[in-house]
Amino acid sequence: MTKIAIIGGTGLNSLKTLAITHRQMVRTPYGAPSSPIVFGEVYDKPIVFLARHGSGHRIPPHQINYRANLWALKDLGIEKIIAVASVGGIIQALAPSTLATPEQIIDYTHGRHHTYFGENISSVTHIDFTHPYSESLRERLLQAAKKAAVSMLDRGVYGATQGPRLETAQEILRLERDGCTMVGMTGMPEAALARELELEYVCCAVVANWAAGKSEGIISMEKIESNLVNGMEKVRKILEILIKSDSI
Ligand code: HPA
Repeated sequence: MTKIAIIGGTGLNSLKTLAITHRQMVRTPYGAPSSPIVFGEVYDKPIVFLARHGSGHRIPPHQINYRANLWALKDLGIEKIIAVASVGGIIQALAPSTLATPEQIIDYTHGRHHTYFGENISSVTHIDFTHPYSESLRERLLQAAKKAAVSMLDRGVYGATQGPRLETAQEILRLERDGCTMVGMTGMPEAALARELELEYVCCAVVANWAAGKSEGIISMEKIESNLVNGMEKVRKILEILIKSDSI
């Protein structure tokens, strides 16, 4: 059994070279995950895949059952998670279709089930979350990107917003002042729940659009989708190299 899972976001519902062996619906104390867990192989290496927004991309960011998703993967023996997430680019270096792996998060979400330690606990637990992403997985992701000859920014601050609406221009200026370099809607509580379950977790961010106010005109779903086609092609290359490598 593999120990690695990929959580695919908008634009990544499958991997081309993934030969699916079976799908499994997993029950958790928190309900059902977004979709059945897909088991397969990429170049003979086993891999597990979960579509964050469900099959057919029908679950909006604020309604994703993050607790069930992470719990299901942990239950299957997964130890490492590569979370692919589409984001809006706030800084110049993060133009549409570029990739980055952030080092930090600022959480602006609210009203989501964000912890396993909220009820039925025997003692109050505070996880360390100083460095929200696994540094060793970040390194491996960056190495795979290098091997794939795909450029990936090796840093960034992910601002997690509530959605499903996009931000106002002024909200993006506030995020920028806070130090955010990219904005997305699914990064939290996913990363924190992974840490609570002691899963190694990394974010592979794909820029879908300039964040609100950073370009002329409105942000359309059509533009987002076409930028993602390009960006996700690069992600697939990186993931295939990463999965193929024995270092993970
Ligand atoms: N804002 C929030 N989430 C996003 C964006 C954005 O501009 N683009 C893709 N996910």
